[in-house]
Amino acid sequence: MPEAVIRKAKTEDAAAIFALYRVLEGAYAGAPLLDEAAAERRWAEAYGDSRQHILVAEAGGEVIGTLTLVVVPNLGHRGRPWAAVDNVVVSEACRGQGVGRALLAEAGRIAGSFDCYKIVLSSNLVRTEAHAFYRRLGWRQTHMGFSLELE
Ligand SMILES: CC(C)(COP(=O)(O)OP(=O)(O)OC[C@H]1O[C@@H](n2cnc3c(N)ncnc32)[C@H](O)[C@@H]1OP(=O)(O)O)[C@@H](O)C(=O)NCCC(=O)NCCS
Repeated sequence: MPEAVIRKAKTEDAAAIFALYRVLEGAYAGAPLLDEAAAERRWAEAYGDSRQHILVAEAGGEVIGTLTLVVVPNLGHRGRPWAAVDNVVVSEACRGQGVGRALLAEAGRIAGSFDCYKIVLSSNLVRTEAHAFYRRLGWRQTHMGFSLELE
C-alpha cells in the first residue's frame, strides 16, 4: 500500500466515505440505507458544520479510511471545549498498517489546536477489536457509558 496521507475530506470524497460506513452498519441492521437525496442532505449538513472535522486517509488516490472529530463549545472546565470522535473506519484491505493510528493522531492534533481538554469516544461493546486498537493508542476506559436508543 502506498503511504497514506491524512487530510480534511473534500465534497468529492462523500461517496467513498459513505461506502466505508457500510462496515459500521451492523449496528443499524434492518434500518433502510440512506437514499441518494438523503445522503446529499446529510453530507451538506455535516460538511457545512464548522465544528465537524471529517478526515480521510488517502493512499494511491483512494480514500481508505475516515473519522469525524466534533469540537464542542463548553461552559465548564473554564470554558475549554471538549471533542468527540466518531465514525472511525479503515478499509479492510488496509488495516494493520498504521492508518487508524494516523487518523487518530490528526484528530488529537486538531483537538489540541482548539485547546480541548479531552476527547471522548464510545464504541459498541461488541467491537472488541476496536477496543484493543484504542487501548494500543493510549486511550483508557475511564467511564461507564449509557445510551438510550431512539427510534
Ligand atoms: C479499528 C480500526 C479503525 C483500526 O485501524 P487500523 O488502521 O487497522 O489500525 P492501525 O494499523 O493504525 O493500528 C494501530 C495499533 O493498534 C493495533 N491494533 C489495530 N487493530 C488491532 C486489533 N484488532 N487488535 C489488537 N491491536 C490492534 C495495531 O497493532 C497497532 O499497534 P502497533 O502500532 O503497536 O503495531 C480498523 O480495524 C477498522 O476500521 N475496524 C472496523 C470498524 C471499527 O470497528 N471501527 C471502530 C468503531 S468504534
